[in-house]
Amino acid sequence: MNRNIACIGAGYIGGPTMAVIARKNPDRKVMVVDISKERIDAWNSDDLPIYEPGLEEVVKSCRGKNLFFSTDVAAAIRECDIIFVGVNTPTKTFGKGAGYASNLQFWEAAARTISQEANGDKIVVEKSTLPIRTADAMAAVLHTHPEHTFTVLSNPEFLAEGSAINDLLDPDRVLIGGPTDTRGQEAVQALVDVYAAWVPRERIITTNVWSSEMSKLAANAMLAQRISSVNAFSALCEETGANIEEVTAVLGMDHRIGKYFLKAGPGFGGSCFKKDVLNLVYLCRTYGLDEAADYWESVVTMNDVQQRRIVERMVKSLFNTLAGKRIALFGFAFKANTGDTRETPALTVAHLLNEEHAEIVVTDPKALRNAAKDLAGLERVTLEPDPYKAAEGCDAIVIMTEWACYRDLDWARLYASMRKPALLFDTRNILDGKAMKALGFNVLAVGKTL
Ligand code: UDX
Repeated sequence: MNRNIACIGAGYIGGPTMAVIARKNPDRKVMVVDISKERIDAWNSDDLPIYEPGLEEVVKSCRGKNLFFSTDVAAAIRECDIIFVGVNTPTKTFGKGAGYASNLQFWEAAARTISQEANGDKIVVEKSTLPIRTADAMAAVLHTHPEHTFTVLSNPEFLAEGSAINDLLDPDRVLIGGPTDTRGQEAVQALVDVYAAWVPRERIITTNVWSSEMSKLAANAMLAQRISSVNAFSALCEETGANIEEVTAVLGMDHRIGKYFLKAGPGFGGSCFKKDVLNLVYLCRTYGLDEAADYWESVVTMNDVQQRRIVERMVKSLFNTLAGKRIALFGFAFKANTGDTRETPALTVAHLLNEEHAEIVVTDPKALRNAAKDLAGLERVTLEPDPYKAAEGCDAIVIMTEWACYRDLDWARLYASMRKPALLFDTRNILDGKAMKALGFNVLAVGKTL
């Protein structure tokens, strides 16, 4: 018998992951539940709560057939044997570990609800990124109701936003960590069966729980570290006349290094990298591994510096004052193809520009709804969906997000509508700097001088 699947948490992870699981397992019922009625209503509407290429098509093909979105958490726990927990675990803002450790409040609440509502044995799957050894704590909370057996598995999600559906359909690997006893291994097999419906068996890796939890943090830390390394080189390139794109092309051709995640830019954003690296730093400190903690913390420091440098270079290039100047931020999402603005470099840059008393105009094809929330309370900020209107009368355009549509804009028209001298700061290096210079712009890019 194929087991039904529930997921507590209808966010960026739960929604797309369950939609793909439902699509590939048409004989299983998949229930996505969340305490937020607003969010569930959105999942049940034509206007999904998150933008993700291909997501709408997958959701529409299964919703109401074997994929259900609801606020009835208790019913989902009763009806399903495999329960994913995909609630958010943001960095703590208070108490012990504030600024580093994960806030496990939502996660613990979910575990308590599972233990209260369970009507039989359940397999509980950690999907949220959690500190190592959290599964132990989860098991302890679950066993407050000892009449049922709960087996806790770790199944970290490696999807990247903007390519979530493709990453889910064709993953590099699926990782499942579980207890090594017989019951644990049976639970692991039950979860392997869910993924084996479409993922080649050799790409499904099974490990012990702690290796699985650790691998997720380690993978994100390695990726974040690559970006910080490249951004550190970019600063040196700007000083010396080397060109970061030439340098990374050389690095990428070394098969031991590889060509991915070598783009210099405004630094990494998104919900995972900073949070996971800080979590790792906290873990290292907890175990007295201070040098390891400092090592990983410098990855985050480098990221902060990259954003500060953007604004410092602008101040210098705009005659040492930004006060009263109009600056258009092109893109607010933390990367292209998403409306997500969590930890977006654009927000940091907006704050730094605000400190310089600049007027800020923000435009973005998908992220203005989130930008409005993020920027509420900040003075001298306007949101404008049309990039041409956003640029009118501005002293500078700063490309913060690598949206493909920005490449195709009529840059001569944009230049004509700006106050002169007009600065174009391409923090994503998506435009042909020389061509932009020929139009009349003063051009700044990351890791190269034009
Ligand atoms: C990331 C991981 O890729 C994913 O496996 C994990 O589960 C969650 O975190 P995501 O945050 O969605 O996914 O985006 P990702 O594509 O990894 O980009 C993260 C940030 O790094 C973005 O701000 C992006 O612009 C930046 N980046 C990425 C660079 O600055 N340079 C690069 O070369 C690549």
